[in-house]
Amino acid sequence: MDLGKVMEVLFAHNRWRRYDTINLIASENVMSPLAEVLYMNDIAGRYEEGLPHKRYYRGTRYIDELEVMLTEAFSSMLGARYVDVRPLSGTLANLAVYHGVMPNGGTMLAVPTACGGHISHNPVGGPRLLKIRVVELPWDNEAFNIDVDGARKLAVAERPSLIVLGASLYLFPHPIREVRDIADEVGAILLHDTAHVLGLVLGGRFPNPLSEGAHLLSSSTHKTFPGPQGGLIAGNVDEDLEKSIRQAVFPGLVSNYHAHRYAPTLVTAMEMEEFGKQYADQTVRNAKRLGEALHNEGLKVVAVDRGFTETHQVAVDVSDRGGGEKASALLEEANIIVNKNMLPWDKSALRPSGIRIGVQEVTRWGMTEDDMEYVGRLVADVLVRGEDPAAVRRKVAEFRSRFGEIRFGYKVDLEVLNRVLSSLRLL
Ligand SMILES: Cc1ncc(COP(=O)(O)O)c(C=O)c1O
Repeated sequence: MDLGKVMEVLFAHNRWRRYDTINLIASENVMSPLAEVLYMNDIAGRYEEGLPHKRYYRGTRYIDELEVMLTEAFSSMLGARYVDVRPLSGTLANLAVYHGVMPNGGTMLAVPTACGGHISHNPVGGPRLLKIRVVELPWDNEAFNIDVDGARKLAVAERPSLIVLGASLYLFPHPIREVRDIADEVGAILLHDTAHVLGLVLGGRFPNPLSEGAHLLSSSTHKTFPGPQGGLIAGNVDEDLEKSIRQAVFPGLVSNYHAHRYAPTLVTAMEMEEFGKQYADQTVRNAKRLGEALHNEGLKVVAVDRGFTETHQVAVDVSDRGGGEKASALLEEANIIVNKNMLPWDKSALRPSGIRIGVQEVTRWGMTEDDMEYVGRLVADVLVRGEDPAAVRRKVAEFRSRFGEIRFGYKVDLEVLNRVLSSLRLL
């Protein structure tokens, strides 16, 4: 083992992703400087188990306080009586809801993976572990959305216990109100997976699923909501269901909650209250402009007629340019990071025809609409004009060097850094 090597690799990663690349992965983000510094705290090595003030472990009084504060913050921001911040991730939040609703297995309807559904909604993912049968919701390619009439017929035929909306490739809000009516007709619970759009919801740029009629939402806390990696469940359901979901979280799925994320998640929530609207507005404006720029460059952007997107994401069909795998690999050579993605017309997850692009992180680095024009040009240099990725990489480096400061969040100064380090006895 070699300590120097460990540090070398880690710092190489930090520099590459923060200085050299244009990161357009739609599910990622960077925390604010203050949140990031507070992420380094003693709780990283501690245990909880149970709920605040009713823990199995001792020594949790300050963790209890943070968990209560964070729960109350999400409760008031989302209008949810029930909030659980203990799931470690969006996937575990989903599994807890599935199990809470269907402790003995059952049937759920969800968006197909090719149409944006996440692997945790897919029959081969978490549902399989819980013996839950997944039936795919019908999809309308024109609208790039769920086919509501088809969904009603399917629900009447299948009588599911749960309907899951929300997606990983998520361009336009799913019809939550309409599907809530369907859920009521067949006696199902409606869950909206808000992982991708939580920051847009809190910034007022995407409908709040709970106000639209979802019984529950699940989420990650690190995509458009730019906090530490974590999970969240929120909603307005009866006490029995709430209890059943809580028990699925603990003792079902997690034992310690990685509670060192609570303080930086709280900081992020406060930042969203202060800057969330500007951030969400700029993010969606940037995504629309990037969609337009890529379209003008001759790329097959999805949903042209619908204005490309109403979220942080843009999807491009690159089947005429070697497919998603090849296109994303070429872009990475140019230090433009995107991921390959299935599109609704794809048959194989192994050969996706699309790439998915998210602009939430570059928006936090300070990019605006004009910069999106340039990002579009850089992408087209690689994918349309076939320029040598190494040459594009030089342009990317020059461009990226102009965006050194994270916006829409609290800064950190030496005094705070000193307090953090000395509170940990590191200084
Ligand atoms: C819609 C959706 N739900 C859940 C998840 C899983 O989130 P996590 O990585 O926090 O488990 C993702 C991840 O990208 C997602 O896109």
